[in-house]
Amino acid sequence: MILDNLIGFFSNDMSIDLGTANTLVLLKGKGIIINEPSVVAVQRDKYGRQKILAVGKEAKNMVGKTPGNIEAIRPMRDGVIADFDMTEKMIRYFIETAHKRKSFLRPRIIICVPYGLTQVERKAVRESAMSAGAREVFLIEEPMAAAIGAGLPIRDPKGSLVVDIGGGTTEIGVVSLGGLVISKSIRTAGDKIDLAIVEYVKKKYNLLIGERTGEEIKIEIGTAILQDEPLVMMVKGRDQVSGLLSRIELTSEDVRDATKEPLREIADALKDVLEVMPPDLAGDIVENGVVLTGGGALIRGIDKYLSDIVKLPVFVADEPLLAVAKGTGKALDEIGLLQQLANE
Ligand SMILES: Nc1ncnc2c1ncn2[C@@H]1O[C@H](COP(=O)(O)OP(=O)(O)OP(=O)(O)O)[C@@H](O)[C@H]1O
Ligand SMILES: [Mg+2]
Repeated sequence: MILDNLIGFFSNDMSIDLGTANTLVLLKGKGIIINEPSVVAVQRDKYGRQKILAVGKEAKNMVGKTPGNIEAIRPMRDGVIADFDMTEKMIRYFIETAHKRKSFLRPRIIICVPYGLTQVERKAVRESAMSAGAREVFLIEEPMAAAIGAGLPIRDPKGSLVVDIGGGTTEIGVVSLGGLVISKSIRTAGDKIDLAIVEYVKKKYNLLIGERTGEEIKIEIGTAILQDEPLVMMVKGRDQVSGLLSRIELTSEDVRDATKEPLREIADALKDVLEVMPPDLAGDIVENGVVLTGGGALIRGIDKYLSDIVKLPVFVADEPLLAVAKGTGKALDEIGLLQQLANE
């Protein structure tokens, strides 16, 4: 025990929220030290060899703007590892960046991975962390980390329901007595919402815009419910008919219309979970409501939108984009909790 504490003291243990949109690294005793998009920019030479040019924000700024031989890759898409090699390089980059401060002991690392990863994908994540210098790697499920991070009483004999709307996946978990009782993951989240906006603008206005613009529109004027005063944004793109660069005025009502389907899918997934809820836990949820985490929780009015559909109180967690990382950090603080939650 004492030895464990000593090792913990010297070893810079860290946790990673390996998200499909953003990766956050938290160092024990220091808090979140890295918060960057999960994007890698690579350059291919004439022999097809790849060289990493940038990781994180700098790489994300290159998305959709790269010349032929440079590619901005999101190695984890839709909650799965789309590019193993790049995922490994990205994990290694983040660990090395966080750990560069010399330590004579290699860190223990908790990694929160998208819920639906296969055994093969989980093994790849674990091995990447080991080869980047980890002494031990624990993987934890995202709904559990989200629930801990949102401050829910996960160890009580009471049900807590968390909905994490990330970039690639929406994960719904019911937690009680330190375990996930029910969980569901769907591949509809922020990315699909961005795409729905891109498609809508193309169809309704004949304007071609990129995914990044779709995301900007969502963040600036996206809303799940009717706004008293519609929000407006100028959007630039290429006219599909004339081929010329053009601009249109888009309103929050447009975006609400555009994103109806993905939002409905999220609401339906929540309904599915509620339908299979054991009655005793259902009582707890009726009392305590549903907590939203992940970047998607920041969509205007999403709490009210879901609440109207499922007829339960719905709350947005404090700093929803940080909830999962904070949850992994709390797990780091408590070795007992960590061992209980760790999923070898
Ligand atoms: N203010 C905002 N309004 C709406 N959406 C937002 C806002 N800020 C961020 N987002 C969206 O949140 C998503 C990223 O959230 P988050 O960082 O929780 O995902 P992730 O953890 O990387 O993904 P996953 O959990 O699916 O692996 C992106 O789709 C982003 O566009
Ligand atoms: Mg996430």
